[in-house]
Amino acid sequence: MKSDLRGRHMITTQEWTKEEIETVLDVAFDLKRKRAVGEPHPLLRDKVLAMLFFFTSTRTRASFEAGMAQLGGHAAFIESGTTQIAHGDTACEIGKILGRYYDGIAIRQCDWKAGNSYIRDVAAASRAPVLNMQCDIYHPFQILADLMTIMEKKADPRGKTIVVSWAYAASYQKPISVPQSLILLMTRFGMNVRLVHPPEYSLMPDIIEQAKENARRNGVSLEIMNDMDAGFRDADIVYPKSWGCLLSTGDLDESARIGRKYQHWITDERRMSLAKTDAIYMHCLPADRNVEVADAVIDGPQSVVYDEAENRLHVQKAVMALTMR
Ligand code: CP
Repeated sequence: MKSDLRGRHMITTQEWTKEEIETVLDVAFDLKRKRAVGEPHPLLRDKVLAMLFFFTSTRTRASFEAGMAQLGGHAAFIESGTTQIAHGDTACEIGKILGRYYDGIAIRQCDWKAGNSYIRDVAAASRAPVLNMQCDIYHPFQILADLMTIMEKKADPRGKTIVVSWAYAASYQKPISVPQSLILLMTRFGMNVRLVHPPEYSLMPDIIEQAKENARRNGVSLEIMNDMDAGFRDADIVYPKSWGCLLSTGDLDESARIGRKYQHWITDERRMSLAKTDAIYMHCLPADRNVEVADAVIDGPQSVVYDEAENRLHVQKAVMALTMR
């Protein structure tokens, strides 16, 4: 267990050692138990977190806000459009100024080729830890919650096969941060990873290379496939979700046209039956119901999506308690 995480930024799990991530999970399980038995845990009394959003959210906002209150502190919701950022406040100024007011700065900035670099610029200027609530490249808290959920449902993740598959959605071009973060982290925790997508939906080459290196170091596999059925076959964990073809085109009409070629990439009961009988279905949400996934699957006995969403709260509280104390 690591006891020296005060002041650390959480921008990607890649920048935290395995032992540090195990510490986060250990604290998260402890905080989950404390909440379950009604044991107060005001570890961040009088501390305040800034939550700066450039993009919409349901779970992330709600779980960070509830988490800070449960830790005895407060979270301030700041919608970027209500600030002076559009009138000139730079990332450096935001880091320097908010870092003096707050004990932590959490940011969601998902703009393609801009979000991660904005968060890193704030972090470079801030005296308080910066927490990535999702950028264009990473979604670290989602993936920590996913790993916690897999540990709860499968006990030991080592040797399990997880399929991270693209799925069709019509609502919007979803970021690639979830599949990228999944292949990076699950390969470090002993899982064999199948990344499945149509050719136009590739992830960033340097993320693929890092995930391959994680897999090599940990004695597991990272397979890249383009057949959703083959990806599901005998899998222990299925995590099919949509993402945009951001590396293929920046044109929204073209993206929509490409996506429509793959409308059959849905997780329905037939496809789910290809996985192991005790396989779990995961999704970070929101999902396009009956487009991306059939109601019968997301509401079915193999779905763990609500436990997964709950675990956002516990891992975030753990990271905040470790970094903002
Ligand atoms: N999974 C997730 O990040 O949900 P929100 O976009 O609602 O925060």
